[in-house]
Amino acid sequence: MKTNLGEVLVNENQIKERIDELGAEISKDYEDKNLLVVGLLRGAVVFLADLVRSISTPIEFDFIAVSSYGTATKTSGVVRILKDLDEEIENRHILLVEDMVDTGLTLNYLLKNLRSRRPESLEVCAFLVKQREGQTLPFIKYAGFMIPDHYVVGYGLDYSEKYRNLPYVSVLKSEQNE
Ligand code: IMP
Repeated sequence: MKTNLGEVLVNENQIKERIDELGAEISKDYEDKNLLVVGLLRGAVVFLADLVRSISTPIEFDFIAVSSYGTATKTSGVVRILKDLDEEIENRHILLVEDMVDTGLTLNYLLKNLRSRRPESLEVCAFLVKQREGQTLPFIKYAGFMIPDHYVVGYGLDYSEKYRNLPYVSVLKSEQNE
C-alpha cells in the first residue's frame, strides 16, 4: 500500500517539554528506589532513550520484545515473547515503557506476564495513548500524550518498519483512506 505523511500530531518541542515533565515526576517518585526501566522493542526505543536522560535518579534498563499477530495496522491480542528480559525482576521496582497503547491488548499481556515474576512494583509509562470510544485501558501511571484514533508514525512508531526515525509524530495517510 502506498503511504505518505499527513498532519503532525505531536511536534519535537512538545515531545521535549513533556519528556522533561515525565522525567521530573519519575525521578521524584523513584527517589531512593533502584528502578529498572523496561523498554518494549522496537517502538519504545526512541522514547526510552530520551526519557532515561531526563531521569535524575540512578536507574538501570532492560528490554523485552514481543510480536503480536494481526494486520499491519491492528493487533490481535495474541502476543508472543521474542526476546525476554536479561534481568530477574523479582522484588524490583519496574517501570514498563511503551511506545503506544492502542487497544491495550499488548500491554495487558505484558503486565500479566511481568506480574507473575513478582516485582516489588510495576508501573507503566506510555508515550502515546489512543483514545477510543468505550474503551477501558489498563492503568497507565505516566502518559505522554492522548491522541485521536488515527494510525500514526514517527518517534519510534513504524509502518512496516519505516518512519521510526522521524523526530515527531505524524498521521499516516494511505491511498485507501484518502
Ligand atoms: P495494542 O495492543 O492495540 O495496544 O497495540 C500496541 C502496539 O501496536 C504498540 O506497541 C505499537 O507497536 C502498535 N501500534 C498501535 N497503534 C499504532 C499506530 O498508530 N502506529 C504505529 N504502531 C501502532
